[in-house]
Amino acid sequence: MKKFYIETFGCQMNVHDSEKVIGTLLAQGYGQVETPEAADLVFYNTCSIRDKAEQKVFNRLQQFKKESGKGKTFAVLGCVAQQEGERVFERAPHVSLVCGSASYNKLPELLIQLENGNRRVTGLSLDTDETFETPLTRRDNPHRAYITIIEGCDKSCAYCVVPFTRGPERSRTSVSVLREARELASGGYTEIQLLGQNVNSYRDPTPAGWDFATLLRNVGETPGIRRVRFTTSHPRDFCKDIIDAISENPVLCNHVHLPVQSGSTKVLDRMQRLYSRDEYMRRIEWMKASPRNIAITTDIIVGFPGETEEDFEQTLDLLDQVEYDSVFSFKYSQRPNTPALQYADHLPEDEKSRRLAILQERQRQIQIRRNGAYVGTIQEVMVEGFNKATGQWIGRTSQHKTLNFIRPAHGGENLIGSYLDVTVTRAGPNSLVGEAVILN
Ligand code: SAH
Ligand code: SF4
Ligand code: F3S
Repeated sequence: MKKFYIETFGCQMNVHDSEKVIGTLLAQGYGQVETPEAADLVFYNTCSIRDKAEQKVFNRLQQFKKESGKGKTFAVLGCVAQQEGERVFERAPHVSLVCGSASYNKLPELLIQLENGNRRVTGLSLDTDETFETPLTRRDNPHRAYITIIEGCDKSCAYCVVPFTRGPERSRTSVSVLREARELASGGYTEIQLLGQNVNSYRDPTPAGWDFATLLRNVGETPGIRRVRFTTSHPRDFCKDIIDAISENPVLCNHVHLPVQSGSTKVLDRMQRLYSRDEYMRRIEWMKASPRNIAITTDIIVGFPGETEEDFEQTLDLLDQVEYDSVFSFKYSQRPNTPALQYADHLPEDEKSRRLAILQERQRQIQIRRNGAYVGTIQEVMVEGFNKATGQWIGRTSQHKTLNFIRPAHGGENLIGSYLDVTVTRAGPNSLVGEAVILN
């Protein structure tokens, strides 16, 4: 039996795509192994969002350039594959297969071409034949499952490669999403995460024509499902209906990831984000007005071309105003084909680094304050793992906070996948610590 190894970089969309690819390969009779050394076929499912991410795959490929790569076949999947296309063969001549995410349904065919000795095989069409129906998906986690509801992106943020690497937006039918949710519930899954680059741009292609809030409400009604999450939301299409749905049904997790990118309307305009700071803040106010204490997280880019010190100060001020529960922050990275490349006023790397460090320290203080407010409260967690080194269980709250806890008088049973109430006893900037509530 031929053996494959796969390593995945990038976002949850890629993680879930790899689950689909693994399912497809297993169905073709390949066996999965844990190291590239043990494999005949080595797959890298790649990310291109920043230059560093793109470099990772070429570094990996470099490691196998000579002797150690002999007899192995290398395949590049995902966003770098789509972006670089046949150029991958020039940059790494020992690669034999280059395939973007819209062509994964062609993988069985492409593998046959490889088996037949073809040395340069590609799947790069963005014709977007349906790739949603993937009965072969091999899910990694037995409790929490991803469901893709929308692929691609129709926005054109000036810094971003995604519209090029994942093509135009296409939504899956509500019938098919609900069917998969029910199947997952009957397979024992209790948490569902709806995925898309812009989940809230979802538009049901059937005559029902559901918007995202309606789909969310309906997935939340699936018997057996205890938690529903979704990511990522674009502020422009983020309607109050989504918040109302969360306010009304506790199965819908009280966490929203709403990437802002910058606190300066001028920078947002140059980024072509299609909203102003005020419009973004209105959405934050809807969330803060919900009775459910919604955790809010975001993405921020510092050092976008033309970002002045004053623009940057506005971003810091936005952090203070919103008080995010967590922030993913990045230095602007120049990406191929993107409009921002043409801007004349790029910032030096060390200035971007300086701003990033200031922003991260500011946010750290906010998180220490915010998480501190949970000490003494009881939170329900889904148990995700056990840390042998600390003797703590790893739990996740509905707000998506990590809550590490001990369970006194614990009989040694495996708690992973169960839901427990935990009293929070301590808080740090990135996680909470607690003790399971013991029922008498
Ligand atoms: N669709 C999501 C973003 C997906 S990409 C949205 O619109 O919000 C994830 C994050 O990577 C983005 O939110 C952005 O903060 C960051 N990012 C994207 N392109 C980048 C670039 N060229 N340089 C630095 N960060 C970038
Ligand atoms: Fe990229 Fe913008 Fe699309 Fe998000 S909305 S994926 S940042 S182009
Ligand atoms: Fe990266 Fe592609 Fe996701 S560029 S962030 S893997 S959509």
